[in-house]
Amino acid sequence: MATTAMPSAAAYEATVTAPVNIAVIKYWGKRDESLILPTNSSLSATLSQDILHSKTTARADPNFTGADTLWLNGTPEPMSASKRLANVVNALRAKRAALEASDSLLPKMSKWIVHVVSENNFPTAAGLASSASGFAALVFALANLYQLPEAKDGEAGAGRSTLSALARLGSGSACRSLFGGFVAWEMGTHADGRDSVAVPVAPASHWTDLEALVLVVHDGRKGVSSTSGMQTTVQTSALAQERFKSVVPQRMFDMKQAILRKDFDQFAETTMMDSNQFHAICLDTFPPIFYLNDVSRAIIQLVTDFNATPVAGYTGKYKVAYTYDAGPNAVLYLPRQFVRPVLALIQHYFPAPTDVPAADYFADPYKVGVNYPAPSS
Ligand code: DP6
Repeated sequence: MATTAMPSAAAYEATVTAPVNIAVIKYWGKRDESLILPTNSSLSATLSQDILHSKTTARADPNFTGADTLWLNGTPEPMSASKRLANVVNALRAKRAALEASDSLLPKMSKWIVHVVSENNFPTAAGLASSASGFAALVFALANLYQLPEAKDGEAGAGRSTLSALARLGSGSACRSLFGGFVAWEMGTHADGRDSVAVPVAPASHWTDLEALVLVVHDGRKGVSSTSGMQTTVQTSALAQERFKSVVPQRMFDMKQAILRKDFDQFAETTMMDSNQFHAICLDTFPPIFYLNDVSRAIIQLVTDFNATPVAGYTGKYKVAYTYDAGPNAVLYLPRQFVRPVLALIQHYFPAPTDVPAADYFADPYKVGVNYPAPSS
């Protein structure tokens, strides 16, 4: 998470970027819709910000008039138009007001109108977790703007988890984007959500051999939003109840162990099984929700076949793991040595459209879909 804070004569401004995270144990279901408290814990890996991020600037100015406004990818929207946006801004403003109440020398920024400009460098709402990086960036930008002590805490400090609970009010998965590396969102037990926060499992530096490839199958808006989809799942799927109760707690344990031991076989198997079960509860939802398409399923088959093909000198059971969020795009996790062979397979079976020159096609990560790391020559 990168920041710059820039106070000028009267106005204050902060700019941050926040990463995308992709869950390997999926969050799908709320026990409290307005506080966004989940029905199960979840766990994600944070992707490189080089390719996927939200960049957000927040500015408070005593001369601004009108309403708090957000420009999301260039389109203005009053923050009060979205309950979630309003909840997040109000929560941060209340923290600032508390600081001002304890120190009369502080500028009364909590009373000023705020303007926020936020941009994603990837398709919004394409199943690529744009709300996660977006709300994480919003919270971190406002926390920096308001000079909250939590914003000064590094990733090892408790402040980040406190901010994660505010990002959670915007979008559940956003709480995990306050950290790099491997991150758990512990569901918590309190009705007020105070312990439903993100906590780091291991920093990015822990498992540097693990890479992620994003295969963009379709970059349009998804059909059923996560919010409404998971609501219907909780109401109608008996399988989902079983998942919350009997499956996820063990998987959270297994996944943490896999990460701490850098055990790719355990990591890959748990990741793929959890993605499958998430899409199974979508199918068990009534009416059913389909996020995967034929290309998504063909990628699953390709990964399965590649995992079953022996590679000289490699003794592991798996070489690559797939996972899918609420859309058809695949995210593959894999040890670095398999990035090139997997890229070659993908490019062979899902070739570039013939009307796009190869150089342009491969220069654009959203069409190639393989984002991290950029293949080097
Ligand atoms: C499939 O966090 O987008 O990506 O809390 O309603 O905003 P809301 O939902 P959201 O759901 C993400 C669902 C998922 C799985 C995951 O990221 O854990």
